[in-house]
Amino acid sequence: MSDRATIALAPGDGIGPEIMNACLEVFREAGVSDYVDFEEVQMGRSVFAGGESRGITDEAVETIERCGVLYKGPMGTPIGGGGKSINVTLRKTFGAFANLRHFQSLPGVDTVFSRAGVPVDMYIVRENVEDTYGGVEARLTSDVVECKRLITAPGCDQVHEFAFQAAKRLGLKKVYCGHKANIMKMTDGLFLERFRTVGDDYPEIEKADVIIDALCMNLVLKPQTYEMIVLPNLQGDIVSDLAAGLVGGLGFAPSANIGDQISIFEAVHGTAPDIAGKGVGNPTSLLLSGLMLLRHLGLLKRAGVIENALLATLEHGVHTGDFGSPETEPVGTSDFARAIIDHLGQQPSEQEAKPVPTHDTLTYSPPVRPSVNRLMQTFTQQRCDVVGCDIYIATTTPPLELAQKLERLAVGTPFKLTMISSRGTQVWPSGSVYTEVVDYFRVRFELEDKHLIGQIGQGPTIHILRRIAEKFEVADFQPLKNYDGERGFSLAQGQ
Ligand code: NAI
Repeated sequence: MSDRATIALAPGDGIGPEIMNACLEVFREAGVSDYVDFEEVQMGRSVFAGGESRGITDEAVETIERCGVLYKGPMGTPIGGGGKSINVTLRKTFGAFANLRHFQSLPGVDTVFSRAGVPVDMYIVRENVEDTYGGVEARLTSDVVECKRLITAPGCDQVHEFAFQAAKRLGLKKVYCGHKANIMKMTDGLFLERFRTVGDDYPEIEKADVIIDALCMNLVLKPQTYEMIVLPNLQGDIVSDLAAGLVGGLGFAPSANIGDQISIFEAVHGTAPDIAGKGVGNPTSLLLSGLMLLRHLGLLKRAGVIENALLATLEHGVHTGDFGSPETEPVGTSDFARAIIDHLGQQPSEQEAKPVPTHDTLTYSPPVRPSVNRLMQTFTQQRCDVVGCDIYIATTTPPLELAQKLERLAVGTPFKLTMISSRGTQVWPSGSVYTEVVDYFRVRFELEDKHLIGQIGQGPTIHILRRIAEKFEVADFQPLKNYDGERGFSLAQGQ
């Protein structure tokens, strides 16, 4: 282990460089440079403008992979034109699978809960790379577009393992899993099942689950119920902004994107283009994210000293223009940083001071470069039997007429037509004529003779697909399989 760490640094766009400078000044004065060197990398607006649609240079990728840690300011995503969010690209490319955010009431930050004397102190762990954020989207018919929602067992295991480990390290007693498994029984169902399985290894931590809509209501009514919540990507994205609102807004919410090899620490707010260049941005979120970075490196003493100085500064009523008392004049970004520096060594008096160990120990080592992409697997050696297929058809033919045509096409194959649905609701063989349909139907063929389960491969499903494709416009195809005898596909609503 080296006695110094090199961290890739991307100041960001908009207010990014202003608030990053403020944070680095606080770090310097607190002695972080005794252990850490920052190496600046190019990404964001200037790189997009130079025609690189990834928004990041090859040199930046190389530096981040070498350092294993990136400290970044907010970055703008070009609207339209196909350019993807650099923030999402970074998390996915470098496998930063868990997004950890800490939401705590801060002195001087006026909120509904601070006024009511209800302290908020909770962590949200959001799965960071899967779900609809895979961005696997396609137009299936004239009227229908699709986004594939991929949830994987090893992806779930990684994020749950991280959550329980973090809860243990932070001394938390209970972890909740937020989900919508009552509706999305397979995807959210897997997320919940893996939460329970991984949680079995942590008997000292209490586990509970909560449906996402009830969670949102409870968070607004009694946020003090929760210490840590682990969530799938999209739900986690929404709930963590809700939680930011509970503690005063995005300006106070730090965020760490943790991977096995590479981790990214960033503010959760955007580039604030309306105030960029004016020197008035609030650096608190980026600074708190920087403290998560220091703790990731093992620099617990310096992180504690800086956090206590920040709390003491806030208690003294020092604030930027986006928060604080209207009776005191706001300060600019660099004066806010200067006030924190002036409070280094002081402790907050109104709330518990953060622990400050006697010395720092750099525990971080940069990643060892793997030679191939790591294959992650949870379930192996499962028996997988083809039982039929769903063929998705672009057509405006009414369901009954469609069924008659399809039944004729299935003659001479091992399959029979068992169901037609539109937008997930069964419209044949039973259903209601009041169910509105679109130009996209799922037609399900299942093995007529159940004794053939385990006897046939994929061939016959491709054969019936060919037959259907000769008469209809196929929009999509899904072989149906049982895994270890259990149905590996959902039923239609009403089936
Ligand atoms: P935003 O967070 O930049 O701004 C929303 C409002 O909050 C604005 O009024 C802004 O002035 C204020 N605000 C945000 N951060 C502040 C701070 N530190 N101090 C004081 N006031 C602050 O969100 P918006 O306007 O939707 O997005 C602007 C750009 O930022 C977009 O290009 C978006 O893609 C990008 N963005 C980047 C993120 C990242 O890098 N992680 C996250 C969110 C947005």
